[in-house]
Amino acid sequence: MGKQYWRGGNMLYPVPAVMVSCGRPEERPNIITVAWAGTVCSSPAMVSISVRKERYSYDILKETGEFVINLITRDLTYATDFCGVRSGRDVDKFAQMHLTSLPSQHISAPGIAESPVNLECKVTQVIPLGSHDMFLAEVLGVTVDEKYMDENGKIHLNDAGLVAYSHGEYFELGEKLGKFGYSVAKKQAAKPGSVTKSAKPSGAGKKAASAENRTASKTEAGNRRKSASKTGSADKQKSRRK
Ligand SMILES: Cc1cc2nc3c(=O)[nH]c(=O)nc-3n(C[C@H](O)[C@H](O)[C@H](O)COP(=O)(O)O)c2cc1C
Repeated sequence: MGKQYWRGGNMLYPVPAVMVSCGRPEERPNIITVAWAGTVCSSPAMVSISVRKERYSYDILKETGEFVINLITRDLTYATDFCGVRSGRDVDKFAQMHLTSLPSQHISAPGIAESPVNLECKVTQVIPLGSHDMFLAEVLGVTVDEKYMDENGKIHLNDAGLVAYSHGEYFELGEKLGKFGYSVAKKQAAKPGSVTKSAKPSGAGKKAASAENRTASKTEAGNRRKSASKTGSADKQKSRRK
């Protein structure tokens, strides 16, 4: 089988799809679905979202310099799609999707109560890139739903039914293949009855876990604060044209 060479395009998948909530004071808050989102720095905790100028949310983000990234789950997938194909110019997305606005602690923009994790973000830079402007932001606070925490305060986010976006389609995260550093971890005696299903690549070289990733894990742990659903079938063209 041969390989085809294509011109440059967006083929980095899967990515997170998130619901970004934002709002001006005295106006109803809005939600925009964003797939061009990412973690860009561990300390300070920073993220980016890229948004087209023509979005209703764009001016709100630019003026207020604030937004909340709300992680999505299987149960929020329909609403995520809806918020990505309807504009806040025309509809109240919170009301239409029966979502509850969650007051933030560090910023004025509210989060979405139904989301398992809400990242309160303060914009530090807006970088024009072309079709999109990238909003770089510091994560000032994170709200975690206690539903996913055990009695020791450990979060079990992977039990939440988190969703990824790939080539225009939404997927619930599937089988666990390993955990951070498993490729170099010392073998432990298997517990009776346990099943080991870790993925082993064929011929991949052993590589130590990166400092960034180790730091990220620690920072996330340190930052933890105690405090389907129908998958909508959006117009393919629209959903691909982020
Ligand atoms: C899965 C998905 C991902 C999207 N990702 C982005 C994105 O990263 N940036 C963007 O500007 N628009 C993105 N969109 C489109 C906007 O969410 C959509 O245009 C939305 O209606 C804008 O809402 P607003 O006009 O209320 O701001 C995405 C849509 C979907 C369905």
